Order: sequence, then structure tokens, then C-alpha cells
Amino acid sequence: LQHSSISFRPILPSDRQVLEKIHSDVFPIRYESEFFQNVVDGRDVISWAAVDRSRQDGLDDELIGFVTARIILSRDSEIEDLLRASRSEQALLYILTLGVVKEYRNRGIASALIREVIRYASNLPTCQAVYLHVISYNNPAIQLYKKLAFKCVRVLYGFYFINGQHYDAYLFVYYVNGG
Ligand code: ACO
Repeated sequence: LQHSSISFRPILPSDRQVLEKIHSDVFPIRYESEFFQNVVDGRDVISWAAVDRSRQDGLDDELIGFVTARIILSRDSEIEDLLRASRSEQALLYILTLGVVKEYRNRGIASALIREVIRYASNLPTCQAVYLHVISYNNPAIQLYKKLAFKCVRVLYGFYFINGQHYDAYLFVYYVNGG
């Protein structure tokens, strides 16, 4: 992202419509209205928006990418067994959604968003890891997480159920603070 006009900021209530539109454009599953409300209100959800400051016609603050994440207690997570023996307050950052609009892909924007998540997690002393699920056919996303040194620790057979069909998921983890 050298010399680029892309910048990152929190997601705001005024982003709601565009946020919903991009989610429905890029994901095969529908998200509830409650999810979007929680994201824009920052209620239990931590998020970053990417915008292109060089866009004309008042679009310089419009979302072109986003990442949303939630804090989960390690002991309530499905990867407790993969973590350093955890004290009760230990936590994880679970990535809920990540997306970049088509016109802005392959410029490092998703990588920069994930690096923001990792930096945030690293600065939370109780946070042990960042983790996420990705559908097994999503090669761009799988390559992205591998490139950023996430480890694939599990295959979840039939984890997703979309239009009457089951799809496997990979569980990727990035350990922070000694994991
Ligand atoms: N094919 C293969 N690898 C790819 C591709 C692709 N089309 N796109 C990205 N990558 C990999 C590459 O390793 C790339 O590194 P490189 O440029 O050195 O080759 C690396 O990802 C970084 O790419 P970025 O430019 O940072 O990624 P981008 O900004 O294009 O966004 C994303 C990638 C988010 C997967 C985008 O394609 C997208 O929005 N897809 C639809 C939504 C989606 O799949 N989201 C992730 C689902 S998982 C989840 O939400 C938890």
C-alpha cells in the first residue's frame, strides 16, 4: 500500500447500507440485520473499514473493504485444546467477515486489514490468538491467510450449509502473545 490513497478507519453507523451491500455481494451466506447493527454500533464487534481518499464525487469516505471480529473467551472456544493452558480470562479474536470490493482487489488491502486485526490482538495482553473459518473452495482467501502466516489447524467437514449443500471449512489460527 505504498504511496496509496487507501486509508483505514472504524466502521460507523453511516456505513450501514454500503456494508450490507458489500456483504451480500461477496458472501454466499446472508447475515442478519442484527449483525450489521452490532458492527456499526461497535457492540461486541471490532471492525475496520478501508476507504479510498482519492475517489471523486463524494465517495472518498465510502467503504471499499472491511474486516469484522469478535472477542471470544478461550475456554468457550473450539480451539481451547490448541492453546497454552489458559487462565480463565484468556481470550481470542475471531474474524467474522473480511471483504474487499472487486475493483480494489489484489492491491494488498485485505492484507492490511488483517494486519490491523493482528496488531490489535497483540496489544491485548490476554489475547492468545486470532482465528477464523474459511470455506474450503475459497482459494484467494486461503492463500491470503497462508501468506500472512496463519496456520491451518483443522478441517471441519460439512461446516457450511449453503443452498442445500454441505461444504467443508478450514480453521486458521495466528498465535499472538505466546499463544
Ligand atoms: N487468487 C489467489 N490468491 C489470491 C487471490 C486470488 N484471486 N487474491 C488474493 N490472493 C492471495 C495472494 O496470496 C495475495 O498475495 P500476492 O498478492 O502476493 O499474491 C494475498 O492473498 C493478498 O492479497 P490482497 O491484495 O491483500 O487481498 P485482496 O485485497 O484482494 O482481498 C479477499 C482478498 C478478501 C479474499 C477478496 O478476494 C474478497 O473480498 N473475496 C470475497 C470475500 C471473501 O472471500 N472473504 C474472505 C472469506 S473468509 C472470512 O471472511 C473469515
